[in-house]
Amino acid sequence: MARKIIIDTDPGQDDAVAILLALASPELELLGITCVAGNVPLPLTSKNARIVCELANRPDMRVFAGCDAPLARPLVTAEHVHGKTGLDGMDLPDPIMALQEQHAVDFLIETLRTEPEGAITLVPIGPLTNIATAIQRAPDIIPRIREIVLMGGGYFEGGNITPTAEFNIYVDPEAAKIVFGAGVPMVVMPLDVTHKALTSRARVEAFRNAGRVGPAVASWTDFFERFDKEKYGSEGAPLHDPCTIAYLLKPDLFTGRHINVEIETESDLTLGMTVADWWRVTRRAPNATFMGGINDAGFFDLLTERLSRL
Ligand code: RIB
Ligand code: CA
Repeated sequence: MARKIIIDTDPGQDDAVAILLALASPELELLGITCVAGNVPLPLTSKNARIVCELANRPDMRVFAGCDAPLARPLVTAEHVHGKTGLDGMDLPDPIMALQEQHAVDFLIETLRTEPEGAITLVPIGPLTNIATAIQRAPDIIPRIREIVLMGGGYFEGGNITPTAEFNIYVDPEAAKIVFGAGVPMVVMPLDVTHKALTSRARVEAFRNAGRVGPAVASWTDFFERFDKEKYGSEGAPLHDPCTIAYLLKPDLFTGRHINVEIETESDLTLGMTVADWWRVTRRAPNATFMGGINDAGFFDLLTERLSRL
């Protein structure tokens, strides 16, 4: 029986690769894609998600537009990383498939209420505004969520948008506080692990030769990696979001700890920081499996093999 998932996303080249990996994997049943404002504004993230679905020959996939701004703050975007379209690197045709009429938050609530309890895994790979709004509007869905597997946060790696905050959490820290405090079983893919999932020339060339979608994935990666290579002086860039899907397919690729993680929402200096009690120095109850290690060779082998199936 395939595992039922909903991806909540702000494409974003790395989001796009995560969506393709999910679509290429029969172990997963992608019930829908809910889009949120993040890397670029909502009109673009909801357009990009459909571009990716059509690239994968999946115009049947349901794509929903969600929240266009964080709960309590102005939107911060990341065109400096992803380009003005959010999918710079490869010119692909505008989507023909339509957005679903239903709001993404209503889709999340309705689906969680109608599917059997514990049947659905949520995979947020952008700011957590949609997920938090659904939880606030319908707290009855909390026990119905099997697990949340998200990309966000950082501890040893610090932040990537400020010295202490990772982008997805920083954009909507109030939403992150709600999600991390909801009591849903959570797996967190922070920068501590995604910064070990680095591309290289050989890995990008392997993408390029990975079937029909390979050239697009390689071109996206070529564009996306320039920011991190310049900033960190590394050979390649971290492929953040696909780590969530890879975890669902092969959890043994990752190692981490079940610890307490709280979100800073008050301090201007450390807003959006994931305060991870890695050494368990507090009595705060563990609320997340916070990943720190990855078998990066195994990750890229899995990703490349699956992409070649599309
Ligand atoms: O910090 C990395 C995260 O922010 C990724 O999800 C990337 O797509 C951006 O949304
Ligand atoms: Ca993302």
